[in-house]
Amino acid sequence: MAEHIIINEVGPRDGLQSQGKTLSVEARLTLIEHLLGCGVEAIEVGSFVSPKAVPQMAGTAELVARLPRRDEIGYSALVPNMRGYELAREAGTRSIAVVLSATETMNQRNINMSLAQARAASAQVLARAREDGIEARAYVAVAFECPFEGRTPAKVVAALTEEMLEAGAGKVIIADTIGAANPASVCEVLGQVRNVAANLPLSCHFHDTRAMALANVLAALEFDVREFDCSIGGLGGCPFSPGASGNLATEDLVLMLHSMGLHTGIDLDRLIDSVPFVEQLTGVALGGRSYSWLRRQRDRQRGEA
Ligand code: COA
Ligand code: ZN
Repeated sequence: MAEHIIINEVGPRDGLQSQGKTLSVEARLTLIEHLLGCGVEAIEVGSFVSPKAVPQMAGTAELVARLPRRDEIGYSALVPNMRGYELAREAGTRSIAVVLSATETMNQRNINMSLAQARAASAQVLARAREDGIEARAYVAVAFECPFEGRTPAKVVAALTEEMLEAGAGKVIIADTIGAANPASVCEVLGQVRNVAANLPLSCHFHDTRAMALANVLAALEFDVREFDCSIGGLGGCPFSPGASGNLATEDLVLMLHSMGLHTGIDLDRLIDSVPFVEQLTGVALGGRSYSWLRRQRDRQRGEA
């Protein structure tokens, strides 16, 4: 059987958090239902953050309570601090992710904490989640480059990864928040990370700002990474990182993985059908690099059928 790669769709969180238009909980749920219809098995549905900081994510508690009941789906939400964790737990969130940036300034700008405070807060949340039996993961953000401090040393990323795993993270997500990684820097960072997390599950989060996200995925596959974040149509950005553009588009990632004989469980035709729907919801033009080719291909096949 073909090897399975987990696709964690982050459009409903990373994608929507930076949009000019704030969607209703109803509209966010419709987006999630569309994604489920495409066979997506892991979705970051939102974040428990200050509605003053990120109004687009207000109402995540209501959203979590109204998610379609599907036990096999990995629904997760991002939490920046203990308050966010408590709100997530009260809402019945099954899986949370803490967000620790690798640099001092990024933590300040993103969550108003120093690096030391963010490390402590993340570790505290991970420990609490473990006690409560809630699955917990940790993002190490700006793992390649920080928009404020420049290149992130690989050994810092490895040390933070080790710290988060020791604190109880079931998985660490190495995140290229501003899309500045390249295959060589992916090898450098993951090489160091693998020294501290030899056989442990890792995930990668790439943005396609400089058109290198797929090349970075290929490099990460060589380091035994078997889970990737991406967002439908490449929806995304980060409101606190100047220069961050869209996430790696789910359709580009799935096309590459399927072409390589890897399995994701995603129906690419249905995913392509969903892109115009997300465009309508958000009012922005979407589509990864392969989108127009995929559409032509699908239309030709439908014409022949
Ligand atoms: N969710 C909702 N409200 C929160 C909260 C959370 N996780 N954490 C704190 N708050 C509330 C507090 O209750 C307080 O409310 P009040 O003014 O009504 O009393 C207010 O926010 C300020 O609390 P404080 O602890 O001083 O937070 P802060 O102002 O230092 O902000 C964060 C810290 C983390 C809440 C804020 O920076 C944030 O939400 N950042 C979001 C970052 C993000 O989503 N980035 C993109 C993804 S990586
Ligand atoms: Zn991102």
